[in-house]
Amino acid sequence: MGKVIVTDHPLIQHKLTILRKKDTSSKDFRQIVTEISALMGYEVTRDFELSDVEIETPLETYVGKEISGKKVGIVPILRAGIGMVDGVLSVMPAARVGHVGMYRDPETLKPVTYYCKLPKDVEERTFIILDPMLATGGSLIEAIDEVKRMGATNVKALNILAAPEGLKAVQEAHPDVDIYVASIDRCLSEEGYILPGLGDAGDRLFGTK
Ligand code: PRP
Ligand code: URA
Repeated sequence: MGKVIVTDHPLIQHKLTILRKKDTSSKDFRQIVTEISALMGYEVTRDFELSDVEIETPLETYVGKEISGKKVGIVPILRAGIGMVDGVLSVMPAARVGHVGMYRDPETLKPVTYYCKLPKDVEERTFIILDPMLATGGSLIEAIDEVKRMGATNVKALNILAAPEGLKAVQEAHPDVDIYVASIDRCLSEEGYILPGLGDAGDRLFGTK
């Protein structure tokens, strides 16, 4: 079974409270999603392997560490995942960026994929799927299906909030995928919203409601 890692650093928890407040403006919401994503990006890379590299300091030879040839692809789920891209790129600037376009059908709550474009060398990359919200888990399951269909074998997920029901569904569908979350909230509402949650992440990021 894949691991669920709760990144409960005090800075992340503090910023998350600001995100949840209904009066937080879109401008602040975007900024804080970026900041949380950078901090979570730091956690998601914690298990990256290091190898020794010999360098010259101005004074002598030194054997330091470098990340050993890891190629990373980050894949925001459109639209709300876009809000996490800049933050994650701030800690791994060489990562390539793919996109999965998806929306939830408001009647069935099921995800509908309308776009998928990934960087090349799919088999060699670690893919990190970005979406602030993991509610029923349907969107994330479908996005992981899609990147695996295109050849990805090493996939992680980065979500800010998750509902327990959705986490369970993703773990069952993709037991090889570790999921990083800032909080596991109480449950889902009948309409598929995370409770207590933060509302509709896409609308709050882009000011569309
Ligand atoms: C939201 C969110 C996730 C999805 C989570 O997107 O950004 O992608 O819902 O729900 P699930 O776990 O039940 O699938 P939404 O469909 O509202 O689209 P948006 O990003 O365009 O706002
Ligand atoms: N998508 C959101 O944006 N918010 C939720 O609470 C659930 C799904």
